[in-house]
Amino acid sequence: MMVMIPMTEKIEHVDYLILGAGIAGLRAAIELAGAAHVLVLTKGEIYESSTEHAQGGIAAALAEDDEVRLHLQDTLQAGDGLCREEAVKVLVEQGPHEIRKLIDWGMEFDREGTKLAFTREAAHSRSRVLHAHGDSTGAQILRALIVKVKTLPSVEIRPHTFATDLLLDGDRVAGVNYIDTKTSRLRSIEADGVVLATGGMGQVYKETTNPDVACGDGVAIAYRAGAILSDLEFVQFHPTALYAKGAPHFLLSEALRGEGGILRNIDLHRFMPHYNEAGELAPRDVVSRSIVMEMRKTGSDFVYLDLTGLEEKHVKNRFPTIYSTCLQYGLDITTDLLPVRPAAHYAMGGVATDLNGNTSMEGLYAAGEVAATGVHGANRLASNSLLEGLVYGARAGASARRHSHHQHSKAGSSEPAASAAKARPGVKGHSSASGTDIAQVVTDLREILWDKVGIIRDQAGLARAVHKLEEISMEDPIPLERQWHEARNMLTVARLIASSALARRESRGAHYRTDIPFKDESTPPRHSYVSKGSAVSFSQDLPAGFGGKSAVTHK
Ligand code: FAD
Ligand code: SIN
Repeated sequence: MMVMIPMTEKIEHVDYLILGAGIAGLRAAIELAGAAHVLVLTKGEIYESSTEHAQGGIAAALAEDDEVRLHLQDTLQAGDGLCREEAVKVLVEQGPHEIRKLIDWGMEFDREGTKLAFTREAAHSRSRVLHAHGDSTGAQILRALIVKVKTLPSVEIRPHTFATDLLLDGDRVAGVNYIDTKTSRLRSIEADGVVLATGGMGQVYKETTNPDVACGDGVAIAYRAGAILSDLEFVQFHPTALYAKGAPHFLLSEALRGEGGILRNIDLHRFMPHYNEAGELAPRDVVSRSIVMEMRKTGSDFVYLDLTGLEEKHVKNRFPTIYSTCLQYGLDITTDLLPVRPAAHYAMGGVATDLNGNTSMEGLYAAGEVAATGVHGANRLASNSLLEGLVYGARAGASARRHSHHQHSKAGSSEPAASAAKARPGVKGHSSASGTDIAQVVTDLREILWDKVGIIRDQAGLARAVHKLEEISMEDPIPLERQWHEARNMLTVARLIASSALARRESRGAHYRTDIPFKDESTPPRHSYVSKGSAVSFSQDLPAGFGGKSAVTHK
């Protein structure tokens, strides 16, 4: 398809641009709502996001027997030595406050009588996971946030707008280019601040729980513009994705194990207690690896999740979506053993930020799964990511507001920015069509990552993956096809994950190498960093320069 790229259209200007309408993007939008025009772009429909699919819940120390200190401790322990403690403190201390705000905005969590109901998930020392409609927590939170956003006249959500690249004004991020996918037209928008909230990257793996939109766009976009990325080798694999003929890799929530579900191998032996004293509620990376080892031992490509010991009525009431979805594939979760295996689920790494969502680039902020705040370390504690979206979405929004007031004094203006020359990466050609077999590129990169950069890794496999990914070529001019851009972004992200995993010469959390099956104790735990033109490097601290002079940064 040949498409003309309009080069002469007037460039729109908004105060703040937010890429993504999941929990992080919407929370940032609410924080920025005092400005004249806050524009939220989403590449598909408004409800297409990981947030919409989140099942188990959102963790916060709100139960009577719980304490912020214990939530902190559990998060640090799951993160296997790599969490930034200051970032975790912010998360667990501000979390309860953010949850109360959400309730004030109309969110209805499940209750037992008048009290909030909490469930248990792996590696939590207390039942602290709030849920809604049983297993539809994310969807209910999204609805509450959208209702709130609709009361804010300055915030506009614009669906079917696919951001392709950042606009640069010198080194400062000054807006984005996007494809209006309804009309196949390329447009540009200038903004005083851009908040990346584009979510995760699970689609780079052959098997994933993530929705189609999770292609790592934000990470690739930020990388092309020059931002520093961090900890990309840490990919969390959820232990229990449904593995049934004709069924998608539908998530079977950890809360099912929290409520008493157990794992059995194909000979029906319960195996988790042999691997870890916490059994089915061991940290997620431990459970996923144990499942893979058990599958290898028994020559099977799945294990079973067994809920038959749980009370039928309770299971149906507590997990209505999981119950009805599995029934569509001929499985009654109250009576059948459920075939499961791990699938790529969550990216601990992403665009590096400080405690306020500031990235290494002026004008660019990041929050939610696209960001690497350091709260999850090497392995995220279950149900901490929705909380991160709320807490750090709010902080990134607040920082964007502070900075544009301090540095540009333009908030409130809806006039186009003054005429500084704008670099428009990727908009040089006038028309083009894709000569690349996009489907083949995506299939190849997904298989390479799944086989060689998956749950269990080694030097030879990682080196081979880096080499094979380098051989994949996408050299056409830039077409106006969302799929082409997604494939290019996935290829970029796949290369970065593989090279970061090759560079990390230890096993820690979700990054497990059979050739070095232990932590590097010769130095304090270090984060990986990578940016365009620089190889992967390691450091305990954030590189200097995050958030400019006026921001509160941390080391
Ligand atoms: P998302 O909610 O994924 O939103 C991303 C947004 O960015 C979307 O609006 C998308 O359209 C937009 N976008 C992406 N690329 C572009 C682009 N190029 N241009 C324009 N827009 C773009 N976490 C928990 O804490 N508890 C749970 O119970 C839980 N369950 C989960 C269950 C499943 C099946 C999955 C997949 C994840 C689960 N997680 C859970 C993880 C959690 O849901 C996510 O980490 C979190 O929702 C991410 O929120 P976000 O706002 O960062 O991104
Ligand atoms: C789940 O419900 O198991 C997912 C929870 C999470 O990813 O935090």
